[in-house]
Amino acid sequence: MHFKVLGASVIALSTSAASVTGHIIDRKAVVRAFNPRRNVSSTITPLQVGNGNFAFGVDITGLQTFSPFATMSTWGWHNFSLPTTPGQTAVEDFAGLDWWTHDRLVNYNQPNPAQGDISSWLIQNPQRLNLARIGLSFKGEETTEEELQDKAQELDLWTGKISSSFKYKGTTVYVETWADASSDSIGISVESELLARGSLEIFVDFPLPTRNKFDAPFVGVSNATSSHRTTLSPRKGSATIRHDLDETSYDVSFSWDSKAEISGPIKGTHRYLLQPSGGKKDIALSVTFSPAAAKARVPRLAQIKEASQNWWESFWNLGAFVDLSAATSEKAMELQRRIILSQYLTAVNSASAYPPQESGKFYQC
Ligand SMILES: *[C@@H]1O[C@H](CO)[C@@H](O)[C@H](O)[C@H]1NC(C)=O
Ligand SMILES: *[C@@H]1O[C@H](CO)[C@@H](O)[C@H](O)[C@H]1NC(C)=O
Ligand SMILES: *[C@@H]1O[C@H](CO)[C@@H](O)[C@H](O)[C@H]1NC(C)=O
Repeated sequence: MHFKVLGASVIALSTSAASVTGHIIDRKAVVRAFNPRRNVSSTITPLQVGNGNFAFGVDITGLQTFSPFATMSTWGWHNFSLPTTPGQTAVEDFAGLDWWTHDRLVNYNQPNPAQGDISSWLIQNPQRLNLARIGLSFKGEETTEEELQDKAQELDLWTGKISSSFKYKGTTVYVETWADASSDSIGISVESELLARGSLEIFVDFPLPTRNKFDAPFVGVSNATSSHRTTLSPRKGSATIRHDLDETSYDVSFSWDSKAEISGPIKGTHRYLLQPSGGKKDIALSVTFSPAAAKARVPRLAQIKEASQNWWESFWNLGAFVDLSAATSEKAMELQRRIILSQYLTAVNSASAYPPQESGKFYQC
């Protein structure tokens, strides 16, 4: 089909690889033309990998090294404990407010000033959990993003891969970040001489939610450590960290492919360190997030990569596709960019069995 829009220009719209007129859209080329490229972290919109049920936002290092962007799932929620104020200790105690509406009293679920504590509890709970923060640690040295040189990053929309590279004190670090298509897992590969020298580590930290559940883009705090608990169970080549906060418990399970030790938490924090120790200059790490009751299976990085490539390829190849490449309007390119990036963000943030009530559960585009 062809439409006359955007002045005198032409849109090709197809529901399969070949349109009615036989014109074949090179979907891969159209999509990849809008791969986001960055050389500095955004302060408000991270690049993300994910699958609709799980998403992981990253800074310029491909992880959450400098900016604690969110790691969120459809199942990870938390309640603060209920108030203890007499008459306001249960959800059922909340009476709402009566308003005269068309000559009759109607009860509305609105904050009741006479029941401030339970009203606030209902507004604040539950909160979607920011499950963990994962980043690079430069052997404990205080480092800022400005100290890294030659920063370059690209999100490949066609395969769901984020490639990041930079130099730290002259030595290059390459990071690849992927999300699995069907589990709450990320796959990370890091390559650098710094690993072989033992001067680059991977950290994981556990934020505590705050009562302002609309905090964005950084969700939760890392300085209220006595209000929650983490427990490490290390094994050979793998480990699980259990996070307990009030009634909520979940596991973060790690699996890696070379010699490395996991330790922690560092005193006064919920921060753990994975320290490569075999003198190799690369490490592949998979991390799976799961409710405590579930027995998580941690996929290997190679499996995550393959699943991501297949999932995104069928995402872009199946269904309708708008191609504006024949359009002559100068606005067509920007419109195409917004269509492609919105499709990516919708797939990552909203294409779940539980669609969000509003415009997206993680970040708006
Ligand atoms: C970083 O990206 C911006 C915008 O694309 C560009 O103008 C700038 O030259 C880049 N800086 C470096 C150091 O590559
Ligand atoms: C939070 O509390 C509400 C009300 O008691 C309950 O329905 C819900 O399951 C709880 N959610 C979590 C994650 O604890
Ligand atoms: C934690 O840090 C926040 C600001 O990031 C601050 O408002 C809060 O008071 C701190 N809490 C504690 C327990 O130190």
